Amino acid sequence: MLTSCTSEMTPAGVSASHGNAHVADELHASLGAVEAWISPKFLYDSLGSKLFEAICELPEYYPTRTEAAIFERHGAEIARVAGKGATLIDLGAGNCAKAASLFPLLQPAQYVAIDISSEFLHDALGRLRQRFPQIAMEALGMDFSQQFALPQQVRAARRLFFYPGSSIGNFTPDEAEAFLRRLRAQCGNDGGILIGIDLAKDKAVLDAAYDDALGVTAAFNLNILRHVNTLLGADFDIRAWRHHGFYNAARSRVEMHLEAVRDQEVRWPGGARRFEAGDCIHTENSYKYQQADAVKLLERSGFEATRIWTDPQCPFAVIHAQAIAQ
Ligand code: AVJ
Repeated sequence: MLTSCTSEMTPAGVSASHGNAHVADELHASLGAVEAWISPKFLYDSLGSKLFEAICELPEYYPTRTEAAIFERHGAEIARVAGKGATLIDLGAGNCAKAASLFPLLQPAQYVAIDISSEFLHDALGRLRQRFPQIAMEALGMDFSQQFALPQQVRAARRLFFYPGSSIGNFTPDEAEAFLRRLRAQCGNDGGILIGIDLAKDKAVLDAAYDDALGVTAAFNLNILRHVNTLLGADFDIRAWRHHGFYNAARSRVEMHLEAVRDQEVRWPGGARRFEAGDCIHTENSYKYQQADAVKLLERSGFEATRIWTDPQCPFAVIHAQAIAQ
C-alpha cells in the first residue's frame, strides 16, 4: 500500500546545524533528495514539543508511561547503581520532568539540560530551579544529534548521561553507535549512561502507538511542515498532507511519513519541488531493539551494562551502563 512511503532516510540525524543558514541548507537538501525526507529533530518547535507532551498522555503511546513506571518502581535501586552526586546530563530534556522525578533519589551535584527547543527548555528549567535550589543547573539549547562539545560549565567529574524515552531509536543502529561513542569520549572512566530503550513488540501495539485515535500523532507529524515553513520560508499547505505511522517489522522500526493527498508544488526561497498525490516525505524512524542487541550496542560503543530494568507486560528497558575504562 505505501510503496512510495518506505524510503531509506538518508544517513540521518543530519548535518551539523548551527544557525539558520545551515538549517535552510539542510532542509533544502533533504527535501530535494530523490526520496524526500525531513529530519525528526524538526518535529520539536515549541508547538511540536507540546504535541509530544500530549502524545505521552495518550492511552496508545506506552513508552513514556512504561518508562516512568520503571523509574518509579526501581528508582531507589537505579540511584544506588548510578550513584548520588553525579553530573547529570539530560539529552533532549524537553520539559525536564523525567530527570526531575529522579532528583530526590539521584541527588545530582549538577543538572545539565540539553534540548534543541531552547525556548521550551528555558521555561522548564526556570520552574525547576525554584523547586530544587540546591542543585546547580545549566540549560544548553543545542543540537546534539551530530558533533557536539560540552561547554566548560559542565562539570567533568562523574558525568552521567541521561537519555530516556527511547530517543536513541531515531538513529539507525550504526548512527546510534557513533552517537554513543561520542558520549563515551565526553566522559571519563568514572562516567556512565542511564538510557531508556524501547524493545520490539506486537505490531498492533506499535501501529496504534504511532497512529492514535485522536490524531495527536498526526498533528505532531504534520506540524513539522509548519515548522519547515517557518525555518525555510516554504509554503507547504498542511491540509494537503496526511500522516502515516506504522511498524515495519522487517526493519524493526516504526516509520512516520507524510503523504501528499493531491498533486502540488511546494516552493521556498532558492528551491521548489513537485509532489504527486501519494508521494511521501519520510519524517521519522523509531527503531525497536531486542534487549540483547541493545546491550551489545552499548558495549560496542564503550559502555558496559551494569543493570537492566524492564517491564514484563510491555517490553521496554532502562539500562545503566558504565564507561569501559580506557
Ligand atoms: C521521542 C523519538 C522517542 O519515537 O516514540 C512519538 C517520538 N514519534 N510519536 C518515539 C514520537 C511519534 C518518540 N521519540
